[in-house]
Amino acid sequence: MSKILSQVEFENKIKSVLVTEKEIKDAVQKAGKIISDSYDGRPILLVSILKGAFVFLADLCRAITVPCEVAFMCAKSYFNGTESTGNVNIVMDIDKDVSKYHVIIVEDIIDTGRTLKVIHKIIKDRNPLSLKVITLLDKKERRVVEFDADMVLFDIPDKFVIGYGLDCGELYRNLPYIAEYAE
Ligand code: IMP
Ligand code: MG
Repeated sequence: MSKILSQVEFENKIKSVLVTEKEIKDAVQKAGKIISDSYDGRPILLVSILKGAFVFLADLCRAITVPCEVAFMCAKSYFNGTESTGNVNIVMDIDKDVSKYHVIIVEDIIDTGRTLKVIHKIIKDRNPLSLKVITLLDKKERRVVEFDADMVLFDIPDKFVIGYGLDCGELYRNLPYIAEYAE
C-alpha cells in the first residue's frame, strides 16, 4: 500500500517538466499518422507493456486512423537497486495469436534495455507477421544491453522521470506531462 502523501508533498517531488503535454500530444499525433500510413490495409496489433505504457497506448491508438487492435502484456522486471536485471516475469500475457498480426510493441521508456530485449524475443518467437517497437521515451545513455526501438518520440537524459503513465512507487502516473522526479 502506498504512503498517502499530502498535496504539498506530492507536488514537491515534481522537480521540473521535461516534456510538456502539448509536445507529447504533437509527437503522438505524428506517430499515429506514420503508423496509419505505413500499415494501412494490414492487421495491426498494438501490444502495450503494463503498467507504464497504458496512457501512451490510449492516446496512440486514438491517433491511428486505420483499423487496429490492442492487447496487453504485464511484465514484472526485477531490479537490483536501480537497474533492471533482465529477469522478467510475464504476469499477464497477450490474449491473441500474434502470428496473425503485424505487432507493434508500445513501451513507455527504454532504460537499460533489458526488459524490452526479453519481451521482444518472447513475442518474436511466436512468429508475428512483423514486429516493431515504439517507445515514448529513450534514455540511451543508460543502455546496458544493445536494443534500439524502431520509433522513439523523445530522447531524454539520465534522469528519473514520472508522469504520463510512468510512476515512482505507483504514484504520478496521472500527470499529463513528463517531469523529473526530485529524489
Ligand atoms: P529497462 O529494462 O532498464 O530498460 O527498464 C525499463 C523499465 O524500467 C521501464 O519500462 C520502466 O517501467 C522502468 N523505468 C526505467 N526508467 C524509469 C524512469 O525514469 N521512471 C519510471 N520508470 C522507469
Ligand atoms: Mg514499463
